[in-house]
Amino acid sequence: MAYLMGIDVATTACKALIVDEKGTVLAGVAHEYPLLTPYPGWAEQEPRDWLRAAALAVREALARAGLSGKNITAIGLTGQMHGSVFLDAKDEVIRPCILWCDQRTDEQCAWITNTVGRDLLTQETLNPVLTGFTAPKIMWLRQREPDNYSRLRKVLLPKDYLRFWLTGEYATEVSDASGTSLLNVPKRQWSKAVLQRLEIPESMLPACYESPEISGRVSKSAAAETGLAEGTPVAGGGGDQAAGAVGNGIVRTGLVSAVSGTSGVVFAQTDAPLLAPRLLLHSFCHAVPGKWHLMGVMLAAGGSFRWFRDTLGAQEVAVARESARDPYEVLCEEAAQAPPGCEGLIFLPYLIGERTPYPDPDARGVFFGLSLRHSKKHLVRAVLEGVAYGLKDSFDIMAEMGVPIQQVRASGGGARSSLWRQIQADVSGYAHSTINVDEGPAFGAALLAGVGAGVFASVPEACDACIRITSVTEPQPANVKLYRDFHAVYKALYQT
Ligand code: XUL
Repeated sequence: MAYLMGIDVATTACKALIVDEKGTVLAGVAHEYPLLTPYPGWAEQEPRDWLRAAALAVREALARAGLSGKNITAIGLTGQMHGSVFLDAKDEVIRPCILWCDQRTDEQCAWITNTVGRDLLTQETLNPVLTGFTAPKIMWLRQREPDNYSRLRKVLLPKDYLRFWLTGEYATEVSDASGTSLLNVPKRQWSKAVLQRLEIPESMLPACYESPEISGRVSKSAAAETGLAEGTPVAGGGGDQAAGAVGNGIVRTGLVSAVSGTSGVVFAQTDAPLLAPRLLLHSFCHAVPGKWHLMGVMLAAGGSFRWFRDTLGAQEVAVARESARDPYEVLCEEAAQAPPGCEGLIFLPYLIGERTPYPDPDARGVFFGLSLRHSKKHLVRAVLEGVAYGLKDSFDIMAEMGVPIQQVRASGGGARSSLWRQIQADVSGYAHSTINVDEGPAFGAALLAGVGAGVFASVPEACDACIRITSVTEPQPANVKLYRDFHAVYKALYQT
């Protein structure tokens, strides 16, 4: 039996997952780390925190599965996208990593667009430069922290820093590299033209692989730190969205996922690189060789719900603690007491700016329409509905492009709540399915490792072997109609 490990450097925690070749999960262990917000709109993490959490998670996962490092056939890596780990000539981390949800680089985005030229940038990268992406962070370092920039030799994405620690190799893969604004997305290689105009030497970037390809092997020192065996192959893996899509089986045209993790994402595979209308969806390489994908990304989906729990949910957190339950479950029970549409209360989930459909770092959250009739149950439900309206915006752009949407699979923390799934089905008008595995990107990364190691012949074959539908939530026609009207108000509010 082959055992595969997926390691996910997510925003809140690092998770190590072990699965067998049938997709059965043997162990999943996560260790958390802090998110640093030194100024409003900034979001950073210390890369060494990821390594510490990864070493613990890997050791504990092996112990829980009753396996030794030698039993692991291959490892796949995944993680939060777009972050920038800046390394100097001695491979020391120069400053904390600037994360995907950091909004400091508005000025650098405009500068890059002017310097490269909008047409060339669109032709090469298929996307606008957005504040969370990697290239504007490099330019920010050059313009705002020149001393740090003068030491800079390598820029790695979060999971690729983990790879460097595990294998000693500087490597990435096409799905994560797509979110740097430096990849020629149609050709699946670094864009020489963009690099040249930005005066970034290609040597500053890691080698770029296809996602299932083996990019290196566990080194002796990493083996000692983690309990893994020296020489274990490490596959390219994928950015969390592409790897999560593989873990959801989104590897055929017509399948679409709706992911409510910290961010909220609607993701569809495409057979060719496509330009979205007004560039409103990200158009990236998929972790499936020879395929691409479109995705709409909301910055605060589960993040909005967590904000609500942390700022207004103390009572529910206490109730949950007393009854040894999850606070989100208690909050969802409360939300279920409010009627669909929240009697006119609407929440805009732009708590840290937004990307899709408004690439606007200055967008902000709103509760609109509060009245004396409203109580906390309405506020909680309005948050769940607001996130669902935001996801619908992405579905609508895909529908406008004629992207086939034959089956929607819900995943992420938000998919665990039957109420939130129902709201998402009613708001979007699409039935939402769930699958047998609820382990997110780490599961997809493990499957990619299995393809790289020859356990599966291809990514779709890996998904066929391991994934099946376990539930379907159908939209309720009366609610679909009601939400369609409220969605129109929701959309008008941002414009206003
Ligand atoms: C995708 C994105 C987020 C992060 C964190 O473009 O920014 O999904 O990867 O999850």
